[in-house]
Amino acid sequence: MEYQDLRDWIQKVEAMGELRTLQGTHWDLEIGAITDVAHHTEDSPAILFDDIVGYPSGRRILSNVMKSIGRLGLTLRMPTDLKKMEFVAAMRDRLHSHNPVAPIKVDSGPVMENVRTGKDVNIFDFPAPKWHELDGGRYIGTGCVTITRDPDEGWVNLGTYRVMIQNEDTVGLYISPGKHGRIHREKYFSRGKPMQVAIALGQDPLLFLGSCTELPFAMSEYDWVGGWKGKPIDVIETEFSGLPIPAHAEIVIEGECRPDIRMNEGPFGEFTGYYASAVREEPVVKIRSIFYRNDPIMFGYPPTKPPSESSFFFAFYRSALLWDELEKAGVPDVRAVWCHPAGASRMLTIVGIRQRYPGHARQAGLLASQGHANAYLGRFTVVVDDDIDTTDLQEVIWAMTTRCDPETDLEILRRCWSGPLDPIIPQGKKGFNSRVVVDACRPYEWMKDFPAVVGLSPAQKEEVLKKWGAKIFNKKI
Ligand SMILES: Cc1cc2nc3c(=O)[nH]c(=O)nc-3n(C[C@H](O)[C@H](O)[C@H](O)COP(=O)(O)O)c2cc1C
Repeated sequence: MEYQDLRDWIQKVEAMGELRTLQGTHWDLEIGAITDVAHHTEDSPAILFDDIVGYPSGRRILSNVMKSIGRLGLTLRMPTDLKKMEFVAAMRDRLHSHNPVAPIKVDSGPVMENVRTGKDVNIFDFPAPKWHELDGGRYIGTGCVTITRDPDEGWVNLGTYRVMIQNEDTVGLYISPGKHGRIHREKYFSRGKPMQVAIALGQDPLLFLGSCTELPFAMSEYDWVGGWKGKPIDVIETEFSGLPIPAHAEIVIEGECRPDIRMNEGPFGEFTGYYASAVREEPVVKIRSIFYRNDPIMFGYPPTKPPSESSFFFAFYRSALLWDELEKAGVPDVRAVWCHPAGASRMLTIVGIRQRYPGHARQAGLLASQGHANAYLGRFTVVVDDDIDTTDLQEVIWAMTTRCDPETDLEILRRCWSGPLDPIIPQGKKGFNSRVVVDACRPYEWMKDFPAVVGLSPAQKEEVLKKWGAKIFNKKI
């Protein structure tokens, strides 16, 4: 099913029966609480908040945007009725046929319906929520797209980095070490120059997905999203910064980050389920202009204790990317990869293999713990045999408790890629972490003699259920 922009997407989601509209909620913790409940409920709908207390009707927020296979499928132009590992496999197929398509420059678009500059800028005109109880402020950017240009090579990066309101024309921008927007900023700052930046706060959900995924450095997410969509993204180059902004975005703020201005940022409820990066001084964006559509719709994509909305999407996407990375690195017979939402789809990765040679499991585990798709803030990588369902934690834990001998089957890696958000690393020591690869495969050298598994094969289970299921469970099986 094709959709044109966010508003068209919302109509289609409504037709699918997956949208609820709520009136009269409060930006101060209430919208955050409702979103938290939705994140922790299976198959929950997208929620459109309108008539937010203290704001004119029409200034809306959309949350729990893509937390169903149906809505993810719609966004990615993929089937909407697949099982988890089927969806990962379908994503890989799409990635293999993916060719980047560069954006196209247009003179104007809906985002230019309203323009505020200079003294008319007041970011409080938009209903930014305080999402979590201990947040240090109102976060207007959670499902946002930050646009910057590399000062040396000229390519444009899109990244999702949180945005906290400081005052009417100033917002904090937190970018973790190693992220591409941060590398851009460091390049400008090292020359004593400000960085121009534009931040879209509501947009095509696919553009958002591109922005928050780890693509190789110097590949523009605009091209990636254009390729996924099969047509170029319309962009407008703004007068002040010359940055290309999405013509169909709902709201875009534009300004600059200066090397000499820093303000306190945080704490913020983070994707690990903690307020781990606490309060630090971070660079801010001095807003010069705000462009927005009539009755704009902002994205609300706050992290919550896992599973959250983003861990839902990343379980599929990161698994597909990592699976490819393992194959490209030459690891044969990878049968499944699952970046489990319980670990925010970063901190617990499970790889299923059919063991072919001594050291195969260790090779898969060590590489999987360092793939670009999930190396940042990684913690546990578990390798299992291919009779284990990697998406089923009961099965994975069973394999760990029965096929892994801790004395020989754990590999600890030190000084790996972490950052301020890592809850187990104390303040003052943040930056590096350690991680473990758990080899939970049957030991290769005596695999054939390993005790046989008790239980039914899928075919036996089906047969018994067919014959007796209705009687035992009192319903048609
Ligand atoms: C909802 C959400 C919020 C995020 N917030 C931040 C953030 O505040 N800072 C950050 O550095 N990364 C954040 N990330 C992760 C980055 O968006 C992600 O790593 C992305 O690939 C960064 O783009 P880049 O690779 O071009 O730097 C967030 C991701 C999501 C899904």
